[in-house]
Amino acid sequence: MCGIVAYVGPKEAYPVILKGLKRLEYRGYDSAGVALLSDELKVYKKKGMVADLEESLVGKDLHAHIGIGHTRWATHGEPSDRNAHPHRSASGKLAMIHNGIIENYGQLKQELANKGYSFSSDTDTEVLLHFIDDIRENNHCTLEEAIRIALRRVTGAYVIVILDTESPDTLIAARKGSPLVIGIGKGEHYLASDASPIIEYTKEVVYVNDYELAIIKPDELILKNLGNEKLTPYVQKLDMELAAIEKGGYEHFMLKEIFEQPHTIYDCLRGRLDISSGKILMSGVEQHIEQLKNANRIIMVACGTSWHAGLVAEYIFEELCRIPVEVEYASEFRYRNPVIHKGDVIIAISQSGETADTLVAIEKAKEQGALIFGVLNVVGSSIARTSHAGAYTHAGPEIGVASTKAFTAQLAVLTMIALKLAKEKGTIDEKRYLHLLTELHDIPEKVQVILEQTENIKKIAEKYADARDFLYLGRGYNFPVALEGALKLKEISYIHAEGYPAAEMKHGPIALVDETLPVVFVATRDAYHEKIISNMQEIKARKGMVLAVISEGDETITKMADDVMVVPVCDEIVAPMLNVIPMQLLAYYIGVYKGLNVDKPRNLAKSVTVE
Ligand code: AGP
Ligand code: GLU
Repeated sequence: MCGIVAYVGPKEAYPVILKGLKRLEYRGYDSAGVALLSDELKVYKKKGMVADLEESLVGKDLHAHIGIGHTRWATHGEPSDRNAHPHRSASGKLAMIHNGIIENYGQLKQELANKGYSFSSDTDTEVLLHFIDDIRENNHCTLEEAIRIALRRVTGAYVIVILDTESPDTLIAARKGSPLVIGIGKGEHYLASDASPIIEYTKEVVYVNDYELAIIKPDELILKNLGNEKLTPYVQKLDMELAAIEKGGYEHFMLKEIFEQPHTIYDCLRGRLDISSGKILMSGVEQHIEQLKNANRIIMVACGTSWHAGLVAEYIFEELCRIPVEVEYASEFRYRNPVIHKGDVIIAISQSGETADTLVAIEKAKEQGALIFGVLNVVGSSIARTSHAGAYTHAGPEIGVASTKAFTAQLAVLTMIALKLAKEKGTIDEKRYLHLLTELHDIPEKVQVILEQTENIKKIAEKYADARDFLYLGRGYNFPVALEGALKLKEISYIHAEGYPAAEMKHGPIALVDETLPVVFVATRDAYHEKIISNMQEIKARKGMVLAVISEGDETITKMADDVMVVPVCDEIVAPMLNVIPMQLLAYYIGVYKGLNVDKPRNLAKSVTVE
């Protein structure tokens, strides 16, 4: 959500910024802009795509060695040219980009209006900029000092980056709650919301922390806290290759990421799951093993697809470890004044590690004494830094807005944690434990088998692509898979889809069933198999169309269903990792058939950094 890029150094700033903004497009946005400073400060901005901005700038003087760029995901004021960033201060000397929300902007705006300020946008960002500008002009202080004073009054979340005509070789940036990475080059610095715009220039980065201010010149990076004390920047090496953030011959990132899953799940298991010794090695778990295995309760906190991974994990942890589990939407949990006891463990699940709701929820739980364990994909992300311990999913950068490979990697990590704890607690017998290790180990190969049937799933997708609604049903471990299937379809095809526990259907949604409604059953062989066949009969009796994800060799459902998607036989505990693959492909091909932008669906953002 929202992208920030800035550059200072010997290169031409505009091409670096433009390319960086394109790399951040996957995060979701509605307008784009740049500010460049050479002899004068030039600000260009436009509603629409980065390509629209680029086109509008052909022939313009874009020469500069310092500049800032932004893709906006509107929170305050509609997407429009005037609301796009960068904004300019009343003095004309400053240009600023901002990611986040200034919550007390109304009060600040009123104060500024009383002083005679007028506003050329509806944004909270412009209010903050005028506020900073006003402090500098009236207090005759440095920009740095003015920013510090202003930020002490601000509530909300932000990353800001400011250009100042009075200091034409310096960028000032500050952060609270939204992400900011600084890339260190030779006599140059790159700033961005994540590492993807930086990786092709340098692998040395500094992640800016909350309440820190960075003063950045071509060959100098000064980091301070809001109390004006200097801090030593912690320089880290990026473990990421450029190829990982490019499409590599696939038509869309989403398809590439679906097809990467045999590798990403393998990478996630590699070095952790040791079949020969029957061991699971996870240092994050080992360091806190007593707290984890003796947890009174585990609370999974997440949003969206990651929340679905938490639901699957609830079934697995309760079954294998006999620990009570609750799964919470982070956005509800953070405001609910939840009861948290010492001895509770929070598992925060997040691909981006930047989801604002999840971040704040775990900060609250941390204050109340819970152990925070992160299951995260992005190394060094805000949630990673807030957690006491964790396990990375190692799925590599996920660019498609719809989460696919991150989900299966989350399931792989969570299953390993559950198995490890169950073994430690003695709540699993040796035979079942070893069987499940083998089942996990075989998942990448089985995912590959499913991917080989892509043509079949594509045909099914085209057959049903014109439906107005879809119902997704599953029971047990497959219930969260049904929810995830419905979410994927909504996101990618804009078709209304609902996920439901199959048996709950008769308490309401069955009223929707007629001959126009495709009902997707996640119905692989498990403890509920006979029961879900009965649910299928109930749909057929009302003339609904049945599409079913089934285990290889299931003749009963093959005869009953209108269409089937077959997955290899496996234990029910690992089945969600397989069963979600046809759901991902179905949603993808329906979206493609409808001519939609599957990598960047409307209104969505990859990384939801505002609440
Ligand atoms: C998934 O397809 C979604 N785009 C979305 O629900 C996502 O899973 C959610 O925003 C959570 O993101 P996170 O995993 O990065 O925290
Ligand atoms: N709140 C700001 C706005 O609406 C910034 C949004 C963003 O993060 O892109 O302009």
